[in-house]
Amino acid sequence: MNPGTAGTATTAEASGAARSELRADVLRGLAAPVRMLPPKYFYDERGAGLFERICELPEYYLTRVETGILAERAGEIAAAIGPNACVIEFGSGSGRKTRILLGQLDRPAAYVPIDISGAQLAQFARELRTEFPALPVLPVAADYTVAPILPAGMPAPRRTVAFFPGSSIGNLDAAAAEQFLRRVRDLCGESGALLVGADLHKDPATLELAYNDPQGVTAAFNLNLLARINRECGADFPLDAFAHRAVYDRRRQRIEMRLVCGRGCEVHVPLDGAASPHATFAFGAGDYLITEHSHKYTRESFAALAARSGWSVRACWTDAEAWFSVWLLG
Ligand code: AVJ
Repeated sequence: MNPGTAGTATTAEASGAARSELRADVLRGLAAPVRMLPPKYFYDERGAGLFERICELPEYYLTRVETGILAERAGEIAAAIGPNACVIEFGSGSGRKTRILLGQLDRPAAYVPIDISGAQLAQFARELRTEFPALPVLPVAADYTVAPILPAGMPAPRRTVAFFPGSSIGNLDAAAAEQFLRRVRDLCGESGALLVGADLHKDPATLELAYNDPQGVTAAFNLNLLARINRECGADFPLDAFAHRAVYDRRRQRIEMRLVCGRGCEVHVPLDGAASPHATFAFGAGDYLITEHSHKYTRESFAALAARSGWSVRACWTDAEAWFSVWLLG
């Protein structure tokens, strides 16, 4: 997609294309030797709402700790970025962290939020225009993992700064993270910068609790993916046969979100205009689907990733317990 089509596609066309992309990704993911679904599909309207609730859970420390670091360091961060910057944010969500950053920056030239959840994005853009009347807000409804797109008519900024909070980079494996960071560097140009949050490796019990909350909000978030696939692809996952479980893989330093099948079942996924009306996938008791990887870093491993991607570390801030890190790369 390019900036022209991003803005002009009708809702019907956009959702038709989105559905066949979802179907293709589901069919590919279920046919793979290790069954995996892309985590970007968590964020339909219900999923985006459940994620907001996850961010408020006491066990899910990531949002709270990162927001604390940003609030405490906002002045330093704004000084390092300088005046008249254009801020591009990947995955804007509810925008609490954005408000902290924009509130401290010296006369930002524009703010470009890129988010896959179109309805949430439009609402957020309206709110920001009211709160920051002098700031041009140019939302882009898109999947930022495919290709970063910028809207036409952007004012020429002194500097382009990408903002990627939340440790969403953790969803990408090493090769994909490097590729993404390189693309962001190309997008931001020579004078550009990247402010990025990364969750840190820690005691596995703390990590697993953050992704297995006792209230079951993360379980509902995970299972909602199957409900979405049933609804939008006409698939027939029996939701009561699957249970949420997140495990920390110490060797690979990542949380693995799973949907574990409790009893043997078959799942049918209708095919787009093929001879056979659907593909069938069998699950035995104990078989599971992976729905997300969330990589954790050490300060060394993240600095190495930044360097491999062509960035230099300008600053790294953490909380007192070193649970989370915020990096300024340039
Ligand atoms: C939005 C990708 C950072 O990996 O911690 C939260 C998503 N999944 N609970 C994460 C998530 C389950 C989150 N990221």
